[in-house]
Amino acid sequence: MLTWSLGGHIKTATCIEDLRQIARRKVPRAFFDYAEAGSYSEQTLRANRADLELIKLRQRVLVDVSSRDPSTTMLGEKVSLPLALAPVALTGLERGNGEILACRAAQAAGIPYALSTLSICSIEDVAAAVGKPFWFQLYVMKDRGFVRSLIERAAAAKCSALVLTVDLQVLGQRHIDIKNGLSVPPSLKIRNLANMARKPGWAFSVLAGKRWTLGNLDGHVRGMKGVKSLAQWVGSQFDETLNWKDVDWVRNLWPGKLIIKGILDVDDAKLAVKSGATALVVSNHGGRQLDGARSSISVLSEVAEAVGSDIEVLFDGGVRAGQDVLRALAQGAKGCLIGRAYIFGLGAGGEAGVVKAIDIIRNELEVSMALTGVNRISEIGWHNLVKSDRGACINGSQDE
Ligand SMILES: Cc1cc2nc3c(=O)[nH]c(=O)nc-3n(C[C@H](O)[C@H](O)[C@H](O)COP(=O)(O)O)c2cc1C
Repeated sequence: MLTWSLGGHIKTATCIEDLRQIARRKVPRAFFDYAEAGSYSEQTLRANRADLELIKLRQRVLVDVSSRDPSTTMLGEKVSLPLALAPVALTGLERGNGEILACRAAQAAGIPYALSTLSICSIEDVAAAVGKPFWFQLYVMKDRGFVRSLIERAAAAKCSALVLTVDLQVLGQRHIDIKNGLSVPPSLKIRNLANMARKPGWAFSVLAGKRWTLGNLDGHVRGMKGVKSLAQWVGSQFDETLNWKDVDWVRNLWPGKLIIKGILDVDDAKLAVKSGATALVVSNHGGRQLDGARSSISVLSEVAEAVGSDIEVLFDGGVRAGQDVLRALAQGAKGCLIGRAYIFGLGAGGEAGVVKAIDIIRNELEVSMALTGVNRISEIGWHNLVKSDRGACINGSQDE
């Protein structure tokens, strides 16, 4: 892709790739790699992007598109565009107080933000620093007492939805993280530490940040203090017994809106409906878990058709542009989550960088709506994709 950014400032960035390039220069290599990488040979990571790019949008002309409006609803709440910021662990190491900055940017833009269980800033840190409710993402760990307390803390912080991530009962391996020493426990290599010292803007922001450890765990897990022991504790806490009964258990503790994240199969989507969840996210964890799994977009239409209106279908994996949002909506998603797209913005320019990432996607979506002859998000459907190109509408039943 031909992109360049004058002087590497976010003001000159015209696309998410520009933000990625700036972040690559500003964020220490170990943390940039952590955000960018996928698991094992990264087949699924690549498939997420490649399959999205295969989908061809149908250009329409001479349609009055002067009343375009990208606003819609997600989980029954009004949003300024069908987008949310996905839960991303260790966001506060891409930029100091990263979770607070990203949440503020999302709220200013009128879209939801999801805070990861494995965030640097805690639920309470974020709640105290932002004006509106946010989503909280939950990992069900072996220590169910701790999980229960996390749910209670999310309720006390008035989180507006619980995102239950179900595709991480074991950890997919990212080779680069091991090579960089971002393992459990972390043991950063000398060269990584030297690299950090060469990123003064980053170092200043992180040193000035509220915390450097996993904020939701620090002081809440008995006998655990400091990055190393907390990381070790987390590493021992992923629960291989996780099953649908645990979803019922969470449902009973959390009467509010529940989103099940990590669905990549129609049968699982039907079980998610049965569980009584409000929404599901078709997701392969951004290609970071099962390498060799299908791309998220290749599964989306099957899931959307199978569940109909019984549950809201959200989508993530590979979204880097407004055109991708349109592609996913055309195949049945109510909204998209972005992970790396905003993390690159955060690394490139903090809160303003996240604002920029959202603006880029918003502008691309608005222009693409115009060029496909669409004024409202609710008008988007299969008819916006090229019919003759079967390969383009992956697994879709576009011939209504
Ligand atoms: C660096 C990184 C950390 C992540 N941490 C979490 C997490 O803590 N919880 C979770 O549910 N998903 C996590 N995810 C997955 C994202 O929520 C989302 O599914 C994924 O990033 C979407 O793909 P995209 O990055 O191509 O947009 C993480 C993704 C990345 C890139």
